Amino acid sequence: MKQQKVLVAGASGYLGRHVVKEFAERGYSVRALVRNPEKLAAEGENLEPAVADLVDEVLTGDATDLSTLKGATKGVDIVFSCMGLTKPQGNITNEQVDHLGNRALLEDALSNGVKKFIYVSVFNAEKTHDVEVVSAHERFVEDLKSSSMPHTVIRPTGFFSDMGMFFSMARSGHMFLLGEGTNRVNPIHGADLAAICVDAAEKDVPEIPAGGPDTYTFNETVTLAFEALGKKPWITHVPMWIGDAALFVTGLVNKPLAGVMSFAIAVSSLDSVAPAKGTRHLKDFYRELAAKD
Ligand SMILES: NC(=O)c1ccc[n+]([C@@H]2O[C@H](COP(=O)([O-])OP(=O)(O)OC[C@H]3O[C@@H](n4cnc5c(N)ncnc54)[C@H](OP(=O)(O)O)[C@@H]3O)[C@@H](O)[C@H]2O)c1
Repeated sequence: MKQQKVLVAGASGYLGRHVVKEFAERGYSVRALVRNPEKLAAEGENLEPAVADLVDEVLTGDATDLSTLKGATKGVDIVFSCMGLTKPQGNITNEQVDHLGNRALLEDALSNGVKKFIYVSVFNAEKTHDVEVVSAHERFVEDLKSSSMPHTVIRPTGFFSDMGMFFSMARSGHMFLLGEGTNRVNPIHGADLAAICVDAAEKDVPEIPAGGPDTYTFNETVTLAFEALGKKPWITHVPMWIGDAALFVTGLVNKPLAGVMSFAIAVSSLDSVAPAKGTRHLKDFYRELAAKD
């Protein structure tokens, strides 16, 4: 008999799949909220696990149609949400997904007597709040904090999946890096972060900032990617002002893409070093990706 039921929103994403696995392995009954159930069945490109067999129930819903989220939390003890817009998708906005989609889940959870809501926002939100993806996350965090719902907000640095994008560029033999690449980051593996998220279900902590065990400059993170591939690093540094100019022009013609670019520019411009947690190393992650080639 499983102890508690959890709704995982964003279950098909990088973090979501690791979280499904962690909850399931700790004996929770998992209801996965996804747009496309097929995505749960295969391993992801950043080694996120296939979780279709670990899920007890699959619920199909889309944050851009709030009626599909109604009743999602019925019979659930805990809601975990990493449902968020991380790449451009037509004209869908961060406000629709990160703020209003999660707010609809919160309202549903309040009406269904859910005991706890765990939400994944970002680290350094106070320094990057002028970026739309961050402010949309934080509008939801404000809703959560001002509600009567017991909650935890997880504030992670970059995920290994973002470093996976660097790895893909290194595979092509040449990398463009915004700025001097001297800012520091301690990225975290999805499985390490998932353990922190599930621990949060069992503790009473309002906010948890979290990064991985190793801190690198951005230059070092990409050099490691080249090394794992056995290639000589070839990095072209793009001055920040060019990034800003490109952002301005993109904003005129493609707002969704400009939103993603503005987050990348903001993150490249500052240190993102959160309290170090977890045990998995970026070097090993790159080696595993290289072994798939
Ligand atoms: N990546 C990072 O470095 C990082 C760092 C800090 C915080 N975060 C935040 O952590 C969260 C998870 O990040 P991630 O990297 O795991 O993202 P991800 O892989 O893109 O996963 C996002 C999840 O949200 C779902 N989703 C997107 N739009 C939706 C919609 N309209 N309706 C329902 N579900 C929708 C996605 O479904 P589909 O699979 O159908 O697309 C996916 O399951 C995001 O909110 C992100 O902003 C990320």
